[in-house]
Parts: sequence; structure tokens; C-alpha cells
Amino acid sequence: MMIERLEEEFSDPALIRLMAKIASACTEISDAIRVQAIDDSKDGSGNLSGRAESTNVQGEEQMKLDIYSHDVFVKACKESNSCVGLISEEVEEYIDLREGGGERGKRGEQEGLAPSSSSDQIHDGGQELGEEKKYIVAFDPLDGSSNVAYGVSVGSIFSVFEYKTTGEGDTRNPIEEVLKPQTGRNVMCAGYCVYGSSTDLVIATRKNTRVVGWTLDPSSNTYVKTRADISIPQRGKIYSINEGYEHKFSEGMKRYIRDCKESSSMTARYVGSMVADVHRTLLAGGTFHYPLGKLRMLYECFPMALMIEVAGGLSISDTGSNTLDSAVESIHERGAIHLGSKENMDDLKKCLRL
Ligand code: AHG
Ligand code: MN
Ligand code: MN
Ligand code: MN
Repeated sequence: MMIERLEEEFSDPALIRLMAKIASACTEISDAIRVQAIDDSKDGSGNLSGRAESTNVQGEEQMKLDIYSHDVFVKACKESNSCVGLISEEVEEYIDLREGGGERGKRGEQEGLAPSSSSDQIHDGGQELGEEKKYIVAFDPLDGSSNVAYGVSVGSIFSVFEYKTTGEGDTRNPIEEVLKPQTGRNVMCAGYCVYGSSTDLVIATRKNTRVVGWTLDPSSNTYVKTRADISIPQRGKIYSINEGYEHKFSEGMKRYIRDCKESSSMTARYVGSMVADVHRTLLAGGTFHYPLGKLRMLYECFPMALMIEVAGGLSISDTGSNTLDSAVESIHERGAIHLGSKENMDDLKKCLRL
């Protein structure tokens, strides 16, 4: 699997390997999603379709594809040889990948969900790579999985933290790199892959402070760079929120929704997969909201907030503070998020009296 001109976006060989491995993981997940419905067992116990009879740390029922996607991500990050640890929506504990580390992160092995043979190794040309950096990846291996059995767009989301080791004998817990004040500002790059009408990989790179998009060309199994520098429109016509919970929203949120309905220029779209709703917001403009604190900071809110902010938009919490300025005390911490085009977000802030 090839990803075009990745080296234009990153300078650290370890990060280039990691991004390429994550891209190949996304291809494996995209392929699995598109065949899960082809049930090879006739009695509905297909290898990848359906529920896994287990729940994650939030008590959410897990789909077999949640666990399969988790295993694919763990395998890819391990094979990149660039990570010291992982945080996954599907595993409660921090996954320490250092020699002798704790939980090795495998989930689906016992259910036989572990992925087939690994994808192509990332060849670093065999040259001895210089002093490389190491990273911690927080990921949502399958976002929107409650939709996955109905042909609706889903995706994977990840954020990358640099692990600044103090060298030999460093006994600090790498998680200290992640759980500290202004955690979001320590996200050194982030991305998502949306498995929809196309498989689109979008990465916000700190180095270039730009958002870049690749589209998978299935005929050549290559990610083609299709959007070299994404900017979110200053204003959009779409607001995106689950109005089924309107009775739980603040008066300010209700005011914003009412204003959108009364405006002749706004319309509503809500897929129910954050990755699809945010991808559309990034490209078409408008706003996306999840004010009830369901979404997880490290692997949903921060990566999407970085994407939108680098593309020229705004992402805030319910109190109006920048999402990326939030501190996070635990790896599965959740928070409220509102993100989108600058001008639409100004309208929102007026309604929220911020
Ligand atoms: P996940 O499938 O990773 O658990 O995430 C689901 C999230 C997110 O994708 C989406 O924005 C939100 O759940 C939708 O929640 P509601 O169904 O409550 O609207
Ligand atoms: Mn989930
Ligand atoms: Mn999710
Ligand atoms: Mn998920």
C-alpha cells in the first residue's frame, strides 16, 4: 500500500513510518467493513458482522468490527516501531509497547478476529535511521460503529503525542506526556480516515500547519494526494447536531438551533458518525455539535479540533474555551464540543452568550 508524497508533510522518519502504517491499517479496516455483510457462515455468525457480546470502558456495546479494527491499529502501530504506547477506545488500560510493557493490547485474538497477515512492511530502505523520536497514539479504531451494519459512513480517528524521553533509565510513565495541562496543545499531529462513498485519509500536520487529504485509489491500492491544503469555508449552510436530545440542550443551544431553522440559508445534516459529520463540516463549512459530553477528548475531540483549527475554523467547549486548551486527567475523559466555520461559530457564541 502506497501513500503519495507523505514525506512532504513530515520530516521525522519514525513519524513517516507511523503515518504510512496507520494508512495501511485504515485500508485493512475499510476492506473489512465493505465485506463484513458478505456473511460466510449462512447462520449469521459471520466472522466480522454483528455484536461482540462485550462492552468498552464506557459500557458501550462493542461490534466485532470495533475489536477487529482495534487489533489492526495495534498491529500497525507496533510494526511501525515508532510508538512507546497506545490509547484505544476499545481497551480501558494504557497499552505500554516498551520492552516488558504491560498490556500488549491484543483484543480480538481469542475471538479469531485478529487480522490476516500483516500488510506490506514499511521499508525504510534499510538505512540505519538516525536518532528518531517516539510517539504515543490515541485512537478510535472504528467511529460510528453503531451505524456500521446499515451501510452508513464510519471511520477511524487518531491523535499523536510525541514522547520526550529523558533517555536511559527513564522510568516516567509515558502517559505523563499526554495527561498534562493544555493536553490538546501537545497533539503534534492528528487525522482520520472516513470509510464512505470514498476512503479519505485526512491529516493535520503541525509542522506545516496545514490539513492534507488523500483518497484511496482501490485499483492501485494507493492513497492519492487529492487535497493539498484544506481550508474550512468562513461560513457554511449546514448545522449538525442530534436534535433527538433537544430537551437536554441548554437554552443557548436551543436558541442557536431555532435561529438555524428560521434562517432561509441553513439546513440540517446529521450522519451520527462524528468522522462523517466533521469531514463534511471541514469541506462544506457550517457547524457540528455534541454538547452532552459523550465524545472522548483524546481520540475524538482533540484530533477533530486540531483539524478544524489548522484549517482556519474554531472548536470550543460548552464554556467557550478552545477545545485544544482543555486539560485531561484520564485517558477516556469525555467533553462537550462545538466546531466549525468561524462565522457560524460567532453566531453560536452569541446564542450561548459566550
Ligand atoms: P463510536 O462509534 O466510536 O463509539 O462513536 C460514536 C459517536 C460519534 O461517532 C457520533 O458523533 C456520536 O457517537 C453519535 O452519538 P448519538 O448517536 O448519541 O448522536
Ligand atoms: Mn464506541
Ligand atoms: Mn467515536
Ligand atoms: Mn469507536
